[in-house]
Amino acid sequence: MQEVMKNIHVQIVRDQTAGGLAGFQVFQNALNKGAQVLGLATGSTPVTIYDELTASDLDFSNLTSINLDEYVGLKPTHPQSYHYFMQEHLFDQKPFAHSFVPDGMNLNADEETKLYDALINANPIDLQLLGLGQNGHIGFNEPGTDPASTTHKVALTASTIAANARFFDNADEVPRYAYSMGIGSILKAKQILIVAYGEAKANAVAAMLQGPVTPDVPASYLQRHPNVTVILDQAAASKLN
Ligand code: GLP
Repeated sequence: MQEVMKNIHVQIVRDQTAGGLAGFQVFQNALNKGAQVLGLATGSTPVTIYDELTASDLDFSNLTSINLDEYVGLKPTHPQSYHYFMQEHLFDQKPFAHSFVPDGMNLNADEETKLYDALINANPIDLQLLGLGQNGHIGFNEPGTDPASTTHKVALTASTIAANARFFDNADEVPRYAYSMGIGSILKAKQILIVAYGEAKANAVAAMLQGPVTPDVPASYLQRHPNVTVILDQAAASKLN
């Protein structure tokens, strides 16, 4: 099923495998139109898109990738770092000319966030891939984040720590801070692809697309972006009118 709401194109797919193919097609179209800089995301949601990208004959060797976020304090070799995730799911198979992920080991937050913003400004993002937090966060922009925010250091909320604890031996090991592109940085991308699966995301999806634009739901600011594609499964779409 497909529905167009103003600037937002919603595609409902059977499952995460079909979502991988649908997401791949969005990437393919963007590359065909000349996209040079891809904004990338981590989490369980994008994995099937990365599977399709790695299995394809698309060539990223002249392109630049810029990731959304990284935990503060995890080395790139830590299996739960977002550096490691990207190597494993995409970069090892499909190297880019340049790939950037915030440096979680740079404990000078002011320096790291300024460097990252300069990088984004020098390499405007053509297509930004996003997952969606259960509380409506994008990247690590938790509820309450300034919509004009650029890259910043974030204190993760209890609900995000709990949601991500499944990847660690226990919740105590989940880092408490992350570096994340801001909502303002994300909205500068020319095109945005946001993907969500499962019932646990249904409230956030409804608030993102049909609720008021509010700092309580960071993803609701996507309503103000001119070119957004949303890929959902039935469960994630189940609370839409
Ligand atoms: C983390 C990431 C987000 C991601 C979200 C959802 O908090 N920082 O970028 O979108 O989790 O993750 P998942 O796709 O595993 O549900």
